Amino acid sequence: MRTFIAIELPDKIKEEIGQLQAPLKKTGAFVSWVKPGNIHVTLKFLGEVPEEKIDQVFSATERAVEGIKNFSMSLKGTGGFPNLRRPRVIWVGTGSGGEELSRLAERMEQEMEKIGFPKENRKFSPHFTIGRVKSPKNIEALAGKVESIEFQTGEIPVTEVVVMRSQLHPAGAIYTPMKKVPLG
Ligand code: 2AM
Repeated sequence: MRTFIAIELPDKIKEEIGQLQAPLKKTGAFVSWVKPGNIHVTLKFLGEVPEEKIDQVFSATERAVEGIKNFSMSLKGTGGFPNLRRPRVIWVGTGSGGEELSRLAERMEQEMEKIGFPKENRKFSPHFTIGRVKSPKNIEALAGKVESIEFQTGEIPVTEVVVMRSQLHPAGAIYTPMKKVPLG
């Protein structure tokens, strides 16, 4: 099962992101836009996990969040990875809560490594992917729009992390929470 550990967003925030995507869609850029319902921040991507190992993943997630209290985060700013000149990913960034997210991601890395998932080489960079660029067509118009947007949410309580299953489909991935682990 294709698996990752994520933090989900309240519906109201997902709606705000849907509204943010609308003017970007109008640029005619060839982007696979993430459905607002699917938008999340990934703390750790595990890839394929054999079914018999999923309980170990649940336990490792529980250990990783031990001692980490609820916190709040906000979403702020938009940009592109690796940059807006030749973006592959269009994202919304974080305002407050970035340090806590990084700490959680680091704890996930540590506990998942113990059960056999190699550590990520790249530094954790908290982001919410809102689109995946498919071709260079109309990229300049898209980049201009992304730069002109001033996005900022209010404070969002973070109270749990989710072990998520991902099923890839041409029409967009289907994410199914397998286990929700409360912080604490
Ligand atoms: P992304 O948003 O930066 O694309 C489900 O695919 C989630 O896992 C996405 O949030 C994705 O991050 C993340 N992820 C991290 N590493 C990945 C990888 N090697 N392949 C696919 N998704 C990955």
